[in-house]
Amino acid sequence: QITPLEDRYGRVATDLRVSLTDRCNLRCSYCMPAEGLDWLPNDDVLSDDEVVRLIQIGVRRVGVREVRFTGGEPLVRRGLVDIVRRTKAIDPSVDVSLTTNALGLERTAAALADAGLDRVNVSLDTVRGETFHTITRRDRFDDVIAGLAAARAHGLTPVKINAVLLRGVNDDQAPELLRWAIAEGYALRFIEQMPLDAQHDWSRAAMVTADEIFTRLEREFTLTPASEPRGSAPAELFTVDGGPATVGVIASVTRPFCGDCDRVRITADGQVRNCLFAREESDLRLALRAGATDEELAERWVTAMRGKRAGHGIDDPTFLQPDRPMSAIGG
Ligand code: GTP
Ligand code: 5AD
Ligand code: SF4
Repeated sequence: QITPLEDRYGRVATDLRVSLTDRCNLRCSYCMPAEGLDWLPNDDVLSDDEVVRLIQIGVRRVGVREVRFTGGEPLVRRGLVDIVRRTKAIDPSVDVSLTTNALGLERTAAALADAGLDRVNVSLDTVRGETFHTITRRDRFDDVIAGLAAARAHGLTPVKINAVLLRGVNDDQAPELLRWAIAEGYALRFIEQMPLDAQHDWSRAAMVTADEIFTRLEREFTLTPASEPRGSAPAELFTVDGGPATVGVIASVTRPFCGDCDRVRITADGQVRNCLFAREESDLRLALRAGATDEELAERWVTAMRGKRAGHGIDDPTFLQPDRPMSAIGG
C-alpha cells in the first residue's frame, strides 16, 4: 500500500533528509554570519515523537528507503540518539545516516552506533588548524579530528568527508586534504559551493568549480573515472593513482544531477521541501498538530512532490535564492 513520492518528471524520491535543528556550533563563512541567525522558536521545531511519526509515514506509506539526519548541526539535538534508534526500529533495512560537523561525535559515536546509525558524512574543509579557524570562526579543529576517529572506530563507515573550497582561503589545499584523507581511510568529496548562504554572498565568479578542482588535483594525482554506476549519488567518483582510494566531486552547479534526483526534505519545523531550491514548502506540522491521520499526512506529502521543478535553475536569468539558507533547510 505504498504510494511513491513521484514527481511530474518521473523521478521518485526514496531518500529522505530530515533536518533536526537549524542551530549550529560553528559559523562557517560560506554558510552563516558570525553572529548566527534568528533561530526557529522552540515551539515550531518538531518534537522527537513528531519527527519519528513523519519518518514512519515516510517508510511505511510513501516508499522512503534512506533517512539522513541533517541540521544545522544534528548533534546539538538532544534526542538524536533516541530518534536514530526509533528510526532504525521502523525498518532495519532502511539506511540511516548523519551529516555532521563532528563536534561532540567523539562522545556520542558509540551510542549512535549502538542505536543503529549506519554511517556519517563529516564536513571538513581543511586539515590546518588555522585555516579551520578562519573558515569556521571557531577553534575546534582537534575536536573534529577526534570525532572522525571515533566514527571510524565505531564502524560508522564509510566515513565520508565533505569539503568546500573557498578561493584564496583553502583552494590551494585540495591535494593536501586528499593525501590526508587517503592515509586516514576517509572518503573525501569536494563540493561546489551553491547559492544557499544566509548572507547571499555567493557569486559564480568566486565559486571554485569542479574543473578547477580537477586541475589542482591532477597536478599531483592521476584521476580515473570510477567504474561503478553513479545512480542518483551526487558525487562523481574517481580512483586516485590507480586505486583503491577514490575522490568524489559534487558539482551541483556546473554539472547538476537534478535529472536523477531521488531526494525529499523535511525541515526542523516540519515543512516538506521537494528540492533544496524549492520556492514553496508544504506544512506537515500544521496538519499533524491539527490531528491529521497518517493517511492524510501521506497524501499531503505525495501532493507536495507534484510541484518539484526539473532542476535548481541556478543558471536561469530569473534565478532567486530560496528564502531559507542551507542551515535551515538541511544540507
Ligand atoms: P551519500 O552519498 O548518501 O553519503 O549522501 P550525500 O552525499 O548526498 O549527503 P551529504 O549530506 O553529505 O551531502 C553532500 C553534499 O551534496 C551537500 O553538501 C550538498 O552540497 C550536496 N547535496 C546534497 N543534497 C543535495 C541536493 O538535493 N541537491 C543538490 N544540488 N546538492 C545536494
Ligand atoms: N554549498 C555547498 N555545500 C554547502 N555546505 C554548506 N553550505 C554549502 C553551500 N552553500 C555543505 C557543508 C556540509 C554539507 C551538508 O553542505 O559543508 O558538508
Ligand atoms: Fe534535487 Fe533540487 Fe538538489 Fe537538483 S537541486 S538535485 S532537484 S534537490
